[in-house]
Amino acid sequence: MRYLTFALAKGRLAKTAMKMFESIGIECEEMKDEKTRKLIFVNEDLKLKFFLAKASDVPTYVEYGAADIGIVGKDTILEEDRKLYEVLDLGFGKCRMCVCGPKSAKELLKNHGMIRVASKYPKIAKDYFYNKKHQTVEIIKLNGSVELAPIVGLSEVIVDIVETGTTLKENGLDVLEEVCPLSARMVVNQVSMKMEDERIRKIITDLKDKISEKVI
Ligand code: PRP
Repeated sequence: MRYLTFALAKGRLAKTAMKMFESIGIECEEMKDEKTRKLIFVNEDLKLKFFLAKASDVPTYVEYGAADIGIVGKDTILEEDRKLYEVLDLGFGKCRMCVCGPKSAKELLKNHGMIRVASKYPKIAKDYFYNKKHQTVEIIKLNGSVELAPIVGLSEVIVDIVETGTTLKENGLDVLEEVCPLSARMVVNQVSMKMEDERIRKIITDLKDKISEKVI
């Protein structure tokens, strides 16, 4: 039996995903040691490997087959636009991709004015404004604390993740439009889906059962 390799987006998603995997018998003792500097973790009995990666790199590992399975947010899947199968909505890490800004920017959006849009997600922002709204805008790529952009006059609006809404509220900004809902997803390499069909399908079915148990 060959190893099945999992790439997990570092941080909260990985922690919740590992709990979910444990509930279906997929576990990795080595990974529980919070102090370890190891990058790859192995479960020899089950022939499984796990590694943590920067979220935006997870789809890359999966597309190239360095990982068979990836756990990553829908935001990253949309932004990276890699060739892979998105097989399951894991139902956690729920939040929304939104156009946000000061209330005064609402008019600019309505009138389809030429505006500047700052975002960590230029592809999602471009797709939303050009293909969905048919509005020409200038997209400015930022790498974090995007809420600053409309406050300091870099852009009129931002396209960013809204979870609790606290960051917006504390900075006098509002959700102006919703782009799409987001949550953690399981993605699979296209070749692995064929070669390891049985093992991967069982994981999907077991996870689906767990997810529906929680809903009921
Ligand atoms: C994300 C996102 C918002 C914030 C939303 O940023 O970009 O800034 O969380 O969460 P809230 O609605 O619960 O306030 P993150 O913390 O990942 O850091 P960043 O701003 O450096 O990108």
